[in-house]
Amino acid sequence: MMLEAKSARRITRGLAALAAALGLTTSAAVAAEAAVGRAGPTLHDAPLPRLIQAHGRWSLMVDGAPFFVLGAQVNNSSAWPAELPKVWPAVDRLHANTVEVPIAWEQIEPEEGRFDFSFLDRLLVEARQHDKRLILIWFGAYKNTGPSYVPLWVKFDSKRFPHALNAQGEPIYTLSPLAPATLQADRTAFAAFMRHLKAADPERTALMVQVENETGVYGAVRDYSPAAQKLFDSPVPDEVLKATGKPSGTWGQVFGKDADELFYAWCLARYVEQVAKAGKAEYPLPMSVNAALRDPFKPQDPKTFASGGPTWDALDIWKAAAPSVDLIAPDIYLHDYPGYVRTLEQYGRPDNALFVPETSDTADNSRMLFEVLGRGGVGFSPFGVDYTGFTNFPLGAPKVDEAAFDDFAQNYRLIEPEMRELAAFQAEGKLHGAAEPLDVHEQTIPLGGWTATVSYGRPQFGDPPAPGNSPPAGGVLIAELGPDSFLVMGYHARVSFAPTDTTRRWFYARVEEGHYEHRRWVFDRIWNGDQIDWGLNLTSAPQILRVRLGTY
Ligand code: DGJ
Repeated sequence: MMLEAKSARRITRGLAALAAALGLTTSAAVAAEAAVGRAGPTLHDAPLPRLIQAHGRWSLMVDGAPFFVLGAQVNNSSAWPAELPKVWPAVDRLHANTVEVPIAWEQIEPEEGRFDFSFLDRLLVEARQHDKRLILIWFGAYKNTGPSYVPLWVKFDSKRFPHALNAQGEPIYTLSPLAPATLQADRTAFAAFMRHLKAADPERTALMVQVENETGVYGAVRDYSPAAQKLFDSPVPDEVLKATGKPSGTWGQVFGKDADELFYAWCLARYVEQVAKAGKAEYPLPMSVNAALRDPFKPQDPKTFASGGPTWDALDIWKAAAPSVDLIAPDIYLHDYPGYVRTLEQYGRPDNALFVPETSDTADNSRMLFEVLGRGGVGFSPFGVDYTGFTNFPLGAPKVDEAAFDDFAQNYRLIEPEMRELAAFQAEGKLHGAAEPLDVHEQTIPLGGWTATVSYGRPQFGDPPAPGNSPPAGGVLIAELGPDSFLVMGYHARVSFAPTDTTRRWFYARVEEGHYEHRRWVFDRIWNGDQIDWGLNLTSAPQILRVRLGTY
């Protein structure tokens, strides 16, 4: 089965490359692919990407094995054929293996019932040519809480597709999630998109689909339309009581001061559930939602964050109301280490796979990849990766920052050759990771019979206290190869070991530096003498070490 899938991928890639070499237009390449798509049902034997959980750990299975999304998300308005030439060079520069690209409702259904998937078809072909996988983002009724990406026939028909009402009964910018026509139209378009994707992507180039984008409402806490008010005054549904462990009552009685926000979370989650479910009925790819965050530590007036979206306090309600959504993912534009890590803790839960679909494309956040993978995350992606010239400063970099792109790239280049091996270690609970904090310059990682100490800013020779890097730039991954053997990789950090049994003395038996080729370890040299006397000092060079330790 795998062989057939692989040869199908080779054939379609070959055809696309041939079409490009012959100077055929991309639509000719699309037609060539479509012809292969019609060749027979075996192409759909490529295993469906899936999120699975074993022994409490989550894995994103791609082509039948655990996979890490080393991602790049394009800017919002880059999902047009004319912009793709400005996307691929940036994504290639980053060495990303997956690109996250919006598919907008206004683009695929410009007139009601008339669908146009030409951009999606082209994107699939070009992604394969560039050897990238895709995560597609459905910009439906909700994009950063608003309806900016709905088609004109929806925008101009507020009678059929009503806006939410504020507490004063006035219409506000966002659409009501309780309007049956809006749900019906959004769901129909999303199902058509998934139907088309299934037919157009026998290779499983697309790994996952995000349903809507950052739901919630700003400047209000919820919809106060009559339909919403009626539900608000009704008993809280059983699935919510079960998920939250609360006694029965109306929303106000059960949730008190948080009732408006949590009620709206339930309304939006139910809306998204019905869209996701209809899409999955067509093509059951893993589906996600993303969250505009609220403060990870402090209480916050719900009018000042995306109230009703999948913020950390509303996750139980989203999980209960949207079972077709496989994972809820935080968009992390924080630059403080404690806030970043707290967010990873909030979203990496036994019932939720950790995935960071958006993070600032600033150099400081590139190191957080090590923290995400070390905490069991299945992927990570800076936002705004293309050469269209747009930057989302102050969330991201003030200009298209090639140096920052290179910081993300160095991590992806380090990890990509052995990504499958690392993902398999992670699935077994044998992968650990750390990124450099701001004020703390030393961290410890328990490894069974050993403890690794990771310190930052030290010279390669000598043992002064760790001052930290300025700015913080360190990150490491450690995989347990055996009880006394470890794979160590990363940048700008010193890794030292000590036996957990402090009565034992220890030594480095052998420290090999090498690299992976075709997923196999290739030995380059042994580190000894000065290179190990002061711990294993990882610099700005890509270094991977296989370390064997001994005791006496
Ligand atoms: C988060 C959204 O999900 C993105 O689409 C984008 O609008 C960024 N915020 C800001 O650039």
